[in-house]
Amino acid sequence: MSSLILGFESSCDETGVALVRVPDDGGVPALLSHALHSQIEMHRAYGGVVPELASRDHIRRALPLTQKVLTDAGVSLTDVDVVAFTRGPGLAGALLVGAGVACSLAASLDKPVLGVHHLEGHLLSPFLSADPPEFPFVALLVSGGHTQLMRVDGVGEYEILGETIDDAAGEAFDKSAKLMGLPYPGGPVLSKLAEGGDPKAFKLPRPLLHSGDLDFSFAGLKTAVLTQAKKLGDELEARKADLAASTQAAIVEVLVKKTLAALDQTGMKRVVVAGGVGANRLLREQLNEACALRKIRVHYPELHLCTDNGAMIAMAAAMRLQAGREQANVEYAFDVKPRWPLDTLV
Ligand code: KG4
Ligand code: ZN
Repeated sequence: MSSLILGFESSCDETGVALVRVPDDGGVPALLSHALHSQIEMHRAYGGVVPELASRDHIRRALPLTQKVLTDAGVSLTDVDVVAFTRGPGLAGALLVGAGVACSLAASLDKPVLGVHHLEGHLLSPFLSADPPEFPFVALLVSGGHTQLMRVDGVGEYEILGETIDDAAGEAFDKSAKLMGLPYPGGPVLSKLAEGGDPKAFKLPRPLLHSGDLDFSFAGLKTAVLTQAKKLGDELEARKADLAASTQAAIVEVLVKKTLAALDQTGMKRVVVAGGVGANRLLREQLNEACALRKIRVHYPELHLCTDNGAMIAMAAAMRLQAGREQANVEYAFDVKPRWPLDTLV
């Protein structure tokens, strides 16, 4: 016997739907199928996510994507045992679409629902990889809206060790890219451009690198990039790859050094990187290198599951249910939480 979880992600600009099979014997849940629609093209014309457009597009995509994951997995809607959805944090209207679709489907099937924390989804997404971690570990959660170092002792056992006091790492990538005239979303575009640049070309600050704690700050870096871009003036176009490489080097150095400090502080020998910035190639290279020297294991989600997706939501629901942290319920409450600190989870 096993149970089948249908998961929805709609917190920002990606509609994700997935099916995860949870074995009753406590074994690792397996991803049966997942489907994703990215709204990047739609928002590009505006230079960033337009919340109202995001919500409307989630409405258009949710059911066709659901049909696709059911077909791909060869199961029918009535086989689904639990419907999971991202309850927060995220854009309120976008979250409400996922909650609405999930609750309506569940109600029509007479099945329970489970609201999932988006960041817990990211955090547990490496368990979907071919090389899943084991608890406990240090987690570096680096997304568009969050940058946190955490001590993770088990499902629902999250202690924040440090976090950003202003911009998130993804935001630092996105805002710096925008200042350089690069299209949205800046992170992957800037990092691609950086491949052809000199990371030492410009001296940019490494904020809070020696602060002695595990907090981050990226707002000053963005200002320094703006100042540098203005100074370059007409030369910016020719030096863009160098500025991109220097910016990326500054962000990555801070992320790597603070992660190593968190490992030292906790004495842990395992680290998990999750969230969109976890797709960054330089971050992976430098963290792998530093951790290999220290005999520390590093785990990442599969590259295509670093950014938002439904698989991580279905997986987080599966792991919470397995761990007995939560019961799915039939209160189809549609109560999303646009702001929801991860360390308030139990
Ligand atoms: O986790 P995610 O998909 O969404 C949030 O929950 O925020 O993360 C999106 C963030 C964006 O800021 C994006 O620019 C960044 O992840 N990102 C990257 C890369 N791929 C995505 N940043 C740097 N390098 C990348 N390759
Ligand atoms: Zn995310």
